[in-house]
Amino acid sequence: MISEIKLHDLNEGRFIEEKVKEISDAVGDGIAINALSGGVDSSVVTMLGHRALGRKLRTVFIQNGLMREGEAEMVSGIFRKLGVEIEIIDARKEFLDALKGITDPEMKREAITQAFYKKVFGRIVRESSAKYLLQGTILTDVDETVAGIKRQHNVFAQLGIDPQETFGYRILEPLIQLRKDGVRAVGQALGLPQAIFARIPFPGPALAARIIGEVTEEKLTVVRKATSVVEGLLSGRGAFQYMAILHEDRVTGMRDGKRDFGRQIEIRCWDSIDARTATPTKLPFELLEKLAVDIISEVPGVVSVTYNITSKPPSTIEAV
Ligand code: XMP
Repeated sequence: MISEIKLHDLNEGRFIEEKVKEISDAVGDGIAINALSGGVDSSVVTMLGHRALGRKLRTVFIQNGLMREGEAEMVSGIFRKLGVEIEIIDARKEFLDALKGITDPEMKREAITQAFYKKVFGRIVRESSAKYLLQGTILTDVDETVAGIKRQHNVFAQLGIDPQETFGYRILEPLIQLRKDGVRAVGQALGLPQAIFARIPFPGPALAARIIGEVTEEKLTVVRKATSVVEGLLSGRGAFQYMAILHEDRVTGMRDGKRDFGRQIEIRCWDSIDARTATPTKLPFELLEKLAVDIISEVPGVVSVTYNITSKPPSTIEAV
């Protein structure tokens, strides 16, 4: 049983001190490795690891082709300014190959897990002499995995997988007692910029979690563009998370006076404290109209834009 540290009980300074010591004691003279996605959790882990280990921590950003527009450059730029070097690894082909033909949500997550841990990251770790892997698992990931709602791709112990036996390395999870609000507070205390510590959550499977059905390069381009529009118009409004989802079903629309059996984008925008429950944000109708107009004009092939008005539960934040 993991003991939760609630935001009001969290002393960020003491937490950082303890975790830095734990990481440093565990790794000793060895080296550790971690993968940075640019999300809040992996960013905070990168900073904690950097404080604890300095150059004994190797941080890689795996370009899996499922990321948002300009993500790798933006994230590595921010960390470089903080004195943390990030290695960008191009693994786009391996992830797309792994996802080929898969439509089932859990099988997609499994394919990404396998491509990430066994192939790409596993290979990097094996080729390095790192025995420790730092990971940004938080308590909500554990809860939802245990409850069988979704299998977060970074939870091993709860799934009965021994990472040392299966993948050959030990995992350190310094954020496992925190929820998202606590992670943000620690990120701020570590000196991360607001663009990172206040960043909306983004799932490990990235845009693959925003495509219903098979993930292809063409669909990734569509959902990536729609995501840019949605993030551009919905950021700064205080919502917990917002996203564009590409549906599998096509619907009849009209384009240039002709019928067009086109694509559908669903927008979701959530109010939530910790992602365990969430309600759709009451966005002004004019803003919804603007979202539709911009998506239709900027994303080729889209003829329908909808807004989700269902709460979690029974919905979940992501659609896959
Ligand atoms: P759901 O969709 O379960 O999402 O309501 C709850 C929160 O977790 C994020 N999420 C994920 N994060 N791997 C992750 O690392 C995943 O597979 C995953 N699925 C959902 C989601 O974005 C939300 O913040």
